[in-house]
Amino acid sequence: MFRMYSDAVDPSKVPQRILSTGDVMPGIGLGTFGSDKYGPAEIAEAVRGALRSGYRLIDCAACYGNEDAIGPVFREAFSEGLDRKDLFVISKVWNDAHSPEAVAASCRRSLRDLGLDYFDAYLVHWPFPNYHAPGCDGDARNPDSRPYIHEEFMETWGAVEQLVREGLVRNPGVSNVTIPKLKLILRDASVRPVLNEMELHPSFQQGELFQFTLDQGIQPVGYCPLGSPSRPERDRSEDDVNDMEMPALRKIAERHGVHPALICLKWAVQRGQVPIPFSVKAPQYLSNLKAVTEDPLTAEELNDLRGCDRNARMIKGQVFLWPGAKSWLDLWDADGRIPGWEG
Ligand SMILES: NC(=O)c1ccc[n+]([C@@H]2O[C@H](COP(=O)([O-])OP(=O)(O)OC[C@H]3O[C@@H](n4cnc5c(N)ncnc54)[C@H](OP(=O)(O)O)[C@@H]3O)[C@@H](O)[C@H]2O)c1
Repeated sequence: MFRMYSDAVDPSKVPQRILSTGDVMPGIGLGTFGSDKYGPAEIAEAVRGALRSGYRLIDCAACYGNEDAIGPVFREAFSEGLDRKDLFVISKVWNDAHSPEAVAASCRRSLRDLGLDYFDAYLVHWPFPNYHAPGCDGDARNPDSRPYIHEEFMETWGAVEQLVREGLVRNPGVSNVTIPKLKLILRDASVRPVLNEMELHPSFQQGELFQFTLDQGIQPVGYCPLGSPSRPERDRSEDDVNDMEMPALRKIAERHGVHPALICLKWAVQRGQVPIPFSVKAPQYLSNLKAVTEDPLTAEELNDLRGCDRNARMIKGQVFLWPGAKSWLDLWDADGRIPGWEG
């Protein structure tokens, strides 16, 4: 029998989401991007502790460079009796593997590294085939970078659809897309995206994209749900907002007698996204999970948090810019259109 910690949260008490495919997804998960701060062994240990604390959703990606360290933790858990059906694993194909052959190879490699024979969800990490070296600084640019080219993206998506047909992927998804891009993808996809992973925290609520995603029956997954205090230098800028220091949020945290991080997570789950907070620290990841099972926010508090939105995107993605692009805003179709797209 799979051994849980004595203070674990009962996974059946964690909120759940029913996806458009009918699959059930836990309403909160553990992120595994160690940034430039935490190595594979520490993250694998956190996944081990998180499973024993009651987490059943783990957000992985090829580019996090730690799937081969997490795989033995999953194998160990299955050998101790954790049912594969009770675990929901997301992985993602990185920007250097967008050709159909590379998508198929990357998915199989991630499955092998993680010791799985299917993914609950598999996402295209970014809609650009633009690669940057791990740990690069914010000014790094790859001269081969290109803007979004819809026909190319649909070839990548077609390869993900093929993985669904082969039974290697149950719920395909996108990440870091905009409404104009998602509209085109939905127009041309044979298999619709089931998940959309996007940056979501109180100071960056992405109301329009969030609502559009829900209206399309796609489940939003919120990354950097705490405002990513440990993010790499390349993702920091002077005008960043620190979510956990926002007065309205701190006031609510004081009222509930908890850390502001936990208010970010209660807000996320009550709003309807699936947050995937990262932590390697057992007290943090346990309290993060517990927070969404107890002491919910009131309607008035949710309304106050709506007022925290500052449209403060942190992950600007400027390292993916192509020659000729004006600014990082071009990556996000800031004026409502995709640069270079006439269709
Ligand atoms: N699809 C994408 O493009 C994309 C992009 C970015 C991230 N992601 C995913 O989203 C996950 C989460 O994003 P993130 O890791 O950048 O940011 P995050 O979850 O917003 O922040 C994580 C940091 O918050 C702190 N923290 C966690 N729990 C806390 C608590 N209870 N109290 C106080 N501080 C707490 C920890 O800082 P310390 O370590 O300093 O204690 C931790 O490193 C990633 O791990 C990854 O899986 C996806």
